[in-house]
Amino acid sequence: MKTLVLVAHPNLEQSVMNNAWAAEIEKHENVTVRRLYDVYPNEQIDVEEEQALLLAHDRIVFQFPFYWYSTPSLLKKWQDEVLSFGWAYGPGGDKLHGKQFLLALSTGGPEISYVAGGYNHYTISELLRPLQATSNLIGTKYITPFTVHGVRFLSEEQVKESAESYAQYVLNEDL
Ligand SMILES: Cc1cc2nc3c(=O)[nH]c(=O)nc-3n(C[C@H](O)[C@H](O)[C@H](O)COP(=O)(O)O)c2cc1C
Repeated sequence: MKTLVLVAHPNLEQSVMNNAWAAEIEKHENVTVRRLYDVYPNEQIDVEEEQALLLAHDRIVFQFPFYWYSTPSLLKKWQDEVLSFGWAYGPGGDKLHGKQFLLALSTGGPEISYVAGGYNHYTISELLRPLQATSNLIGTKYITPFTVHGVRFLSEEQVKESAESYAQYVLNEDL
């Protein structure tokens, strides 16, 4: 199985978690790691190239820090442009059917803040529903997301452990 990891972090040099995740998973075989903000410093997405990459992989991973209960803006732009009508959805839009779709995200808020009545009011599953609905529409299998909460509270050791668990989960063919 070939895995495509789209890393969407606007400032990877200052990232703790997403940088560690990308560096760890890159050590493995059959995985393509694509740091979108490096590939597109001017944010002009090459739709044909992105679609060709999607076709060449079986599992598509969106890896990102949670920003305003959503993805960073370049990954939203990527969705708007790459998942096009007649290609990813609509008549003839079956190109991604049967592929797997996996979200991997880090949050600043601790786990306890993502509950009914908590600081963020809703669970992560609830907040990720627009992306799950996108997965449904483009005909991919939605795999349970990999989430790490409260990144700023983690020790160096915990970050290292998280990077290993991340690679193990994302590359697990039995999900
Ligand atoms: C513009 C912006 C928006 C953010 N929105 C959220 C949010 O909605 N929920 C949350 O828990 N954390 C939010 N954060 C915190 C980031 O998710 C957190 O810093 C990041 O996951 C840490 O990962 P990193 O070490 O790879 O940067 C936000 C941060 C920024 C800069």
